[in-house]
Amino acid sequence: MEDVTDVVFRRLCRKHGAAVAMTEFVNVEGLLRGCRNARRKIQLSDDDGLTAIQIYGSNPERLAEAARFAEAAEPLFIDVNCGCWVPKIAGRGAGAGWLRDPAAMVAMARMVVSSVSLPVTVKTRIGLGPESHMPIIDLARRLEDAGVAAITIHCRTAQMGHSGAADWSWAARAREVVGVPVLVNGDVRSAADAKRAIDDTGCAGVMVGRRAIEHPWIFREARALLERGAEVAPPTAAERIALCREHLIENVAQRGEPFGVHCTRRHLSGYLKGLSGAAALRQRLNGCDSLEGCLAILDAWSPRAEISPPLFG
Ligand SMILES: Cc1cc2nc3c(=O)[nH]c(=O)nc-3n(C[C@H](O)[C@H](O)[C@H](O)COP(=O)(O)O)c2cc1C
Repeated sequence: MEDVTDVVFRRLCRKHGAAVAMTEFVNVEGLLRGCRNARRKIQLSDDDGLTAIQIYGSNPERLAEAARFAEAAEPLFIDVNCGCWVPKIAGRGAGAGWLRDPAAMVAMARMVVSSVSLPVTVKTRIGLGPESHMPIIDLARRLEDAGVAAITIHCRTAQMGHSGAADWSWAARAREVVGVPVLVNGDVRSAADAKRAIDDTGCAGVMVGRRAIEHPWIFREARALLERGAEVAPPTAAERIALCREHLIENVAQRGEPFGVHCTRRHLSGYLKGLSGAAALRQRLNGCDSLEGCLAILDAWSPRAEISPPLFG
């Protein structure tokens, strides 16, 4: 996920049970032009062995070239984003824009597959929308013919963006017609959802997006339920505070101050959920640009925080 699944967050997700992580999507033109931010996104760390690089673009030759470039970073596989609905991306033919012409998407996928020796996967949606017959079933079959090694289906149309409910039944139907693994994506927000998504669809796995931003513990919770039928206890207050500390420290080590602090903020309210005085704590953290200050605020937290105004004065 853009601005989310950087090297630090991938590590945290893996630590909490994620099987495979994916980089932020990387624009192929930026990557091939040598844009610093694009190059940063494909840099994998030593513990990134189970990380895929995701690329996006509208030109098949450039996607193939960028896939070759990304291959040198030694990801687990290369994923091509054919699902981003954002107008500035889909409107220019990249991301979900490929769903306007499924045959072109398949030809592009074939070209990317033949350009690299790593497995190539595709993440897409059930259709552009609002067509009554979604292209995804036939598309999945043709992507498999093109040599794609797995398909992730965000079970919404592009037109839906992130609104409305994901309809996992499309992943079930696509899964029936292909031999490669299909991963179901969209609205998996708990371990129970992950189990239901797999039970209902027969898919090989689930991809979790937004819920991980606020609750990376979802991975260990889902694993416990899927592998052992066990429900694990929710994170304790101490674990929640510890994750805030760890994420802040690692982000600042990676990005410096204040950016490392700022880019952790989107996670903190989720991490702190349910703690007494969470709202006041979050407010103080949001007003603090330094690592030292944030850690002091976290260290001052106690279960009685909400009845101890001086701590949060
Ligand atoms: C902030 C944000 C950034 C995202 N960036 C990407 C991306 O770079 N590549 C991608 O395939 N999907 C991206 N997505 C979409 C998610 O991967 C996922 O398909 C979507 O949120 C639905 O799954 P969920 O209900 O588990 O969140 C992004 C979503 C969000 C909220």
